[in-house]
Amino acid sequence: MKIPQLPAPRGVRIAGTGSFTPDAILSNEDLSKMVDTSDEWIVQRTGIHRRHICEPNSEGTFSMANKALERAIEDAGIDPSTIDMIIVGTVTSEMTCPSTAARLTAACGATPAGAFDVSAACCGFMYSMNLGESLIRVGRANRVAVLGVDHMTSLMDYDDRSCSILFGDAAGAAILEAVDDPNRGSIHQTMHADGRGWGALYIPRKSGDIAENDTEEGIRLGCLRMNGREVYKFAVTKFQRAISSALEATGLEPDDVGIYICHQSNLRIIESAVEKLGLPEDRVYININEYGNTSAGSVGLCLDEVRKKKLVDESKPMLMVAFGGGMTWSSSVWNW
Ligand code: COA
Repeated sequence: MKIPQLPAPRGVRIAGTGSFTPDAILSNEDLSKMVDTSDEWIVQRTGIHRRHICEPNSEGTFSMANKALERAIEDAGIDPSTIDMIIVGTVTSEMTCPSTAARLTAACGATPAGAFDVSAACCGFMYSMNLGESLIRVGRANRVAVLGVDHMTSLMDYDDRSCSILFGDAAGAAILEAVDDPNRGSIHQTMHADGRGWGALYIPRKSGDIAENDTEEGIRLGCLRMNGREVYKFAVTKFQRAISSALEATGLEPDDVGIYICHQSNLRIIESAVEKLGLPEDRVYININEYGNTSAGSVGLCLDEVRKKKLVDESKPMLMVAFGGGMTWSSSVWNW
């Protein structure tokens, strides 16, 4: 008997992207009427001016994901029934069962594609994209839809001024597909987690979940808890290390990268990486001013915007990087 052979590794291309942000705006001015804060403080410490937020009871994780995916499918010009897998990075799925990804197979017409959600907080899109890319590369799938979506404002305690000022709602999606050239797609990728620091950023569902060192009175169960200073320290270090390791592993100099897509968590965190690593400032994409931190939505939203604004130079690779709760961090260097 002739042993069946595995297909040779292929490359991957981004066939289309889409994103969705709700129309309703929560400005710094609005927040300053809700908690003791000011536009000046928020802009200075975070770079955020406003966030787009879901209308209660009419918009949410599934509806945002569905619209972003519809747009990505349209952009790719594909028949959705040819999608082999849908992977959704999210921590705000309306239900733990079914997954948001499973509901999307029916909504977009991709049944019976495989589907699952990934819980990696703000790294949700990066993890999904890295997984989807790998499935295609080894020949397990030909076309994968990857998404990052979070309805973060559903997790906010709007009495907590240090956390609630940061977050907005968004979804980003990309259609990945196989190409013959194995040099296209993710030429380097990482996915990491360090659970020792989980208590700096978490969502307690019951009192037993509350982290030992989180001693504040009046913690609201079901709302995001954040130790801003701890997360900041972690983020600054990990962000820079993730970018420098990706450059080192691929032998690229900062100037060789065509576009940097960084998780939009705080403008100061991104600026410190730019300064420390000497990244070309005009190629580091920023939209945190408009949307705030949209968790898993952030990187996919940026990817869609840079493509639609024609900021991509396909002769140079793209570097994507994120970090988030868990604590998690992830990167990818992408050859167009
Ligand atoms: N408005 C006004 N004052 C505020 C405030 C707000 N929204 N939030 C906090 N403060 C106050 C604090 O109470 C503190 O007052 P005190 O000095 O009287 O105690 C002061 O501002 C400084 O607080 P601190 O927490 O040290 O501020 P900071 O410079 O670290 O900025 C964050 C706070 C949250 C913006 C910053 O820590 C941060 O961005 N951390 C990372 C968050 C993140 O990226 N999370 C998502 C990860 S994916």
